[in-house]
Amino acid sequence: MNDTVAGARGVFGSRIGFILTAAGSAIGLGNIWRFPYMAGESGGAAFVLLYLCFVLALGFPVMLAEFAIGQATRQSGSRAFTTLVPGTRWRWIGTLGVLTGLAILAFYSVVAGWSLGYLVKAFQGDFSRELTAEASAAIFTDFIASPSQSAAMAAAVIAATVAIVLKGVSKGIERASLILMPIFFLLLIGLSVHSLQLPGAADGLAFLFAPDLSKVSLRVVMSALGQAFFSLSLGMGVMITYSSYLTQKKGLPGMALSSIAADTSVALLAGVTLFPAIFSVGASPQGGPGLAFITFPTIFADLPAGTGVAIAFYALLFIASITSTVSLLEVVVAHSVDRYGWRRPRTVIGASLIALLVALPCALSFGGSQALSSLFGVQDGFFGILNIAFGNFALVIGALCICLFVGWRWGIRPALNALGVAEGSWLARLLSLEIRFVCPICISAVLAFIALTGSFF
Ligand code: PHE
Repeated sequence: MNDTVAGARGVFGSRIGFILTAAGSAIGLGNIWRFPYMAGESGGAAFVLLYLCFVLALGFPVMLAEFAIGQATRQSGSRAFTTLVPGTRWRWIGTLGVLTGLAILAFYSVVAGWSLGYLVKAFQGDFSRELTAEASAAIFTDFIASPSQSAAMAAAVIAATVAIVLKGVSKGIERASLILMPIFFLLLIGLSVHSLQLPGAADGLAFLFAPDLSKVSLRVVMSALGQAFFSLSLGMGVMITYSSYLTQKKGLPGMALSSIAADTSVALLAGVTLFPAIFSVGASPQGGPGLAFITFPTIFADLPAGTGVAIAFYALLFIASITSTVSLLEVVVAHSVDRYGWRRPRTVIGASLIALLVALPCALSFGGSQALSSLFGVQDGFFGILNIAFGNFALVIGALCICLFVGWRWGIRPALNALGVAEGSWLARLLSLEIRFVCPICISAVLAFIALTGSFF
């Protein structure tokens, strides 16, 4: 992160600072928690293959479309759209992004709160003893069913996010990420190497990488599409906001590729660590939102210095999630400051209180409240609804609108110009094709099929 959070504009001087911030937003629970559980529920390798295709074919152009808007305007949210096309109705994309940001922040904080809770458990030495998958599942279920614990942890996450966004201690975070995120990466590599040696690891790998195309359904396609945007923090304006703080426009495509490569490798590493461990004990990959939280402790319990590894892991996971919650809150705040001229500190407090209010019912959706846990018969009730509606659909719709706006309303030429991509180059042609045709057609086709067949839920 950066001093942007303190309100000044144009402060990303360095390439690496910007890449780290974009990757910091992208890498988080989406990779460690959401990717494995979605892959597990959606048929494994078929989902992974689709996810990878979407990340490359759609994630890359959408990220650049967002960069172009932020770069060209140095504004965020709705204001960015009206700066490009005065009075445009497309400014609603900014408003949708703010709503989406608040909703994601709410349910995301609950899961970030779980990692905080697990950090506490790790300090208590809870993962030092032999731990069966059943015992680990029981610990998780107990933990998330306690309304006071999960609500308190979610509140702590929001408070930490506010402290960072408010004080602009972001320089510290940026520097810390520079050291801590590579350590997280190395730790994950180490854990995956361990997992690969478990008996039955090959089954886990096959589940993850040997696609059974008969498992592809509309639901799987939509989940992979939503997860691609969720994981890259696309479709709600994070990358518009961040690139509006960037002073130099050199090498934006390269920066997008670096963030995407970092994000995707962390997700795949999480998969390679978890699935062998799941299959080696004969557990089901369809463990739902608890999958990662139940499986990781069994891995730590199996390691020589398990407690130390667990502490390091949950501390780093917590930091990775905070760099994501900061970006979510930043979008809401930047939009309100740019559009209405509200004062930053008040806006930060107001927005976070709304997020907290929505986070509470999310925290109660796992048994804490019967009504919320089974709302409308959806799995994980209120939490599940926000997760699908905003974490998947709103981001996908946002990404579609961003492509339509850039490709057909604002114009691909000024966008390429803002990105510093030479007209007539192969990259310019590729991006133009992608933003104007490929992305809108693919995304609308999936949405249209869902609307026509109603076969998602
Ligand atoms: N990309 C983040 C993650 O993977 C979550 C996120 C989604 C952040 C959308 C900002 C916007 O953890």
